[in-house]
Amino acid sequence: MQGREALIDLQHVGKIYRMGEVEVAALCDIFLTVEEGEFVAIMGASGSGKSTLMNILGCLDRPTSGRYLLAGRDVSQLSRNELAEIRNRLLGFVFQSFNLLPRTSAVDNVGLPLQYAGVSPHERRQRAADALRRVGLSDHLRHYPNQMSGGQQQRVAIARALVTQPKLILADEPTGNLDSRTSIEIMALLQELWRCGMTVLMVTHEFDIAAYASRQLVMKDSTKVTIFPKGNCCVSLSAMLQAQVWCCFAAKWRLLVRQTPGRNLQRTVPPHRSGPVRINTPPHLLLPASVSPSPPAQLPQRR
Ligand SMILES: Nc1ncnc2c1ncn2[C@@H]1O[C@H](COP(=O)(O)OP(=O)(O)O)[C@@H](O)[C@H]1O
Ligand SMILES: [Mg+2]
Repeated sequence: MQGREALIDLQHVGKIYRMGEVEVAALCDIFLTVEEGEFVAIMGASGSGKSTLMNILGCLDRPTSGRYLLAGRDVSQLSRNELAEIRNRLLGFVFQSFNLLPRTSAVDNVGLPLQYAGVSPHERRQRAADALRRVGLSDHLRHYPNQMSGGQQQRVAIARALVTQPKLILADEPTGNLDSRTSIEIMALLQELWRCGMTVLMVTHEFDIAAYASRQLVMKDSTKVTIFPKGNCCVSLSAMLQAQVWCCFAAKWRLLVRQTPGRNLQRTVPPHRSGPVRINTPPHLLLPASVSPSPPAQLPQRR
């Protein structure tokens, strides 16, 4: 493990939604390990289970089967109150639509999670101001959301996610409501936080946004396959073609692994590791990916 520990460890995780007599299997037998200091992007078609997975990872929902170990603790069967306590202590959330309180200043929006944690007003304001400084908004402490651009509002939301000093930031389509230029700024900020040691897990459907992460996963029909780790160039048409080839391959491959109990589709590519890659997949199920772990040397250019 070279000093890194698994922050997220999903084992055999499944989620079935029941609506009367109808059952929807949103997640099937998911294995996922995310180590501290990784930046993981989860992609996939609509309905493939991304939000369900994020809800479970974010302790907003519980799996119907399997185990979820978060920072070494099994959280799969905790009560709602216990999950809320874990969320407040370990996790920071960033949403597509920012989710800021409209009639509340930036500094008070950012201080809100600290209020839930019982922190005094004075310390709250100080820590919120520090978090806003960290995202480049020290001049906007007293601004209201409607006095800020979309990118600035998302920065406030990221400051709010940071203010409790979480172990993990979960971002669901963080650039979904932003134009291309602002998306680059927000992704650069998330990447900077990752470079400073934060673990980030993000859902996106855009290849060039996923390219900022150190590892990309694709959800397919309620399961997950790992695609190529990104190089230092931008994800271009060839990468998209490569992903499509992967998906075709994965479809065939799943036919093979479906009959294999205890399968593990996950391979781990820590961002800064230069040595051999640890592969959890049984040797007979290995994906033929060439893995070249390296942190992004430069920001990908958007087309
Ligand atoms: N609360 C729910 N009740 C019933 N079915 C749901 C619920 N949430 C999601 N689903 C179903 O689970 C599957 C996965 O959904 P979701 O996780 O939202 O996918 P994605 O985020 O990739 O679009 C879909 O078939 C969806 O209709
Ligand atoms: Mg979704």
